[in-house]
Amino acid sequence: MWDDLRAHYGKVADRRFETLVDDTRATDFSSQTGDMLLDYAKTNIDADGRALLIDLLEQAGVAAKRDAMFAGQPINETEGRAVLHTALRNLDGGPVVVDGSDVMPGVLATLDRMSDFAEQVRDGRFAGQGGQITDVVNIGIGGSDLGPAMAVKALAPYHDGPRCHFVSNVDPADIAGVLRSCDPARTLVIVASKTFTTIETMTNARTAMAWMKQTVTDAGAQFAALSTAEDKTADFGIDPSRVFGFEDWVGGRYSVWGPIGLSLMIAIGPDAFRAFLRGGQAMDRHFQAADWHENLPALLALVGIWHNQVCGYATRAVLPYDNLLSRLPAYLQQLEMESNGKGVSMDGADLPVPSGPVVWGEPGTNGQHAFYQLIHQGTRVIPCEFLVAARGHEDDLHHQHQLLVANCLAQSEALMRGRDLATARQKVADKFKGEELERQARHRVFPGNRPSVTIAYPQLTPFVLGQIIALYEHRVFVEGAVLGINSYDQWGVELGKELATALQPVVEGTQHVSGKDGSTAQLVGFLQRNGV
Ligand code: F6P
Repeated sequence: MWDDLRAHYGKVADRRFETLVDDTRATDFSSQTGDMLLDYAKTNIDADGRALLIDLLEQAGVAAKRDAMFAGQPINETEGRAVLHTALRNLDGGPVVVDGSDVMPGVLATLDRMSDFAEQVRDGRFAGQGGQITDVVNIGIGGSDLGPAMAVKALAPYHDGPRCHFVSNVDPADIAGVLRSCDPARTLVIVASKTFTTIETMTNARTAMAWMKQTVTDAGAQFAALSTAEDKTADFGIDPSRVFGFEDWVGGRYSVWGPIGLSLMIAIGPDAFRAFLRGGQAMDRHFQAADWHENLPALLALVGIWHNQVCGYATRAVLPYDNLLSRLPAYLQQLEMESNGKGVSMDGADLPVPSGPVVWGEPGTNGQHAFYQLIHQGTRVIPCEFLVAARGHEDDLHHQHQLLVANCLAQSEALMRGRDLATARQKVADKFKGEELERQARHRVFPGNRPSVTIAYPQLTPFVLGQIIALYEHRVFVEGAVLGINSYDQWGVELGKELATALQPVVEGTQHVSGKDGSTAQLVGFLQRNGV
C-alpha cells in the first residue's frame, strides 16, 4: 500500500493543486460534524489519493482497533493496559467493561466528588486559613500540566472561579515566580501526578508545602492530589477526602477529562466542565459512527499521513487564529509526539516509514510576523493546520475579529496560490529596471502549492474545545493504528530520567565525574567552577 501511495504521489507531485480547487472540490474535500468544519481542499490529495489512503486505513484494521479501544481491550500492549480516556467523557453512555467490571459507576462518582469539591472551593465553603481561596496552584508536568493549562487559557471567557496558576518545570524560577504572587493562607495547591513519583512534580510539591508551612498551621489541609497512586498521596500527607483518583487506563497526555482537569473545573465551574466533556463525547460518537469519507479524525489523520509518510514533509505547523488556543501547539506536541514518536511497530520491527511528525506552532497573527517567512519562501514545505472561530467573545470588538479571520483565510490562500515571477515583476516594475528588476522580482516570488487544512467552528465554547481535543486525540489514534505502533506508551522518556538521577550527585559534587564522557565532564566542570 505504501508503494501504491508513493507511486501515486510520484504522478501528482508536480501538479499545482490550486487548479483542482473549485466549488465541487471544496464540498467533496471537506467534512462537517455538528457545526465544526474540516476543509482539506487546499492539499494535493485527489480522489484517487484519498481512496488509497482509505485503503491503508482499511488494511490496518483501524475500525476494529478503534472498537477495541472503546471496548476497553488492553490495546496498550507494552504496558498491558486498556486505553479508556473516552470513558471519562462517557456522560450518558452505556457500561464500559474492563477486566469484567463496569468502570462507569466509579468514573461518574469521581466526577461528582470533583464537582462537589470544585463548588466548595468556588463558593468559599472550602477555605484556607486566611479565608476564601483566591489562587489555585496546579503542580504537575507533561499531561498533568499541559492539558489543564491549555484548557484554562482556552476557556478564559468562562473563568469565574479563583485564579489558576500552573507550575511544571523543576527550574526553581517557575515555582518561585508563581508562589510570589499568591497568599499562602488563601491558596489551594493541587499536586497532579498520575504516578506521584515524577521528580519535578514531587520536588515542586515539597517546595510548595514548605512555603505554605511558613504561615499556615495545617498546610496539608490546603493541598489536594490527583493521582492513580492513592497510597503515595497519603504518604505525602494529603487527606483522602481531597484525593481524586483515576485508573491506569487513562494515559497522562489523555487525562484532562478526569481528575487532572480539576483546576479547569474550579476555574470554569462543573457545568461548563461537563459541557467540555460533552464536546469530547460528541466527537467520540462521530468517530465511532461516521463513514471514513466524513470522519473528521480519520480525514485529519489521512492528511497527516499523506504529508508526513508519503510526501516526506517532516513537520507540521498548528496555527490557531484564536489567541485563546495559544497553548494548543504545546499541548499537541506532547499528545502527538509522545504518542507517535516511535521507531518500532507493535511487534518490535523497525517502522518501514517515518514516525509521526514534528509538531510546532504559534497563534496567528503573531506567527505571521515571525516564522511565516520560512513557511512561504523557505525551501522546505511545511503543511499548516489553521484553526479559526467565526466569533470571538468580545462582541464590541467584532470588527477586529473579522480582521483576524481575514488574515487566517489569506494565509491559506497565499500558501496555495503563491506569486509567480511575472506578477512579482509587475509589483516592482516602477522601481527597478533591467537586471536589477529581475533580481528584485525573484525575491518577491512565492512558490505556492503549499498545503494546509482549516478547522473552523462558530466560537470556542467549552463544548467546542472538547470537540477539538477529542478530534486530535482520535487523529493520533488513527495515525498510530495505520503505522502499527503503540501510541500509548512513552519508553523514550526513560533514559534521560535515569541519567539525570545518576548525574545529580555528580552535579552536587558528592560523586566524582569519572566514567562520564569528556563532553559531559567538561560541562560539569564548567558549571561547578561557576557555582552550580
Ligand atoms: O515523562 C513523561 C511522562 O510520563 C508523561 O507521559 C506524563 O504526562 C508526565 O511524565 C507526568 O507524569 P505523572 O503524571 O505521572 O507525574
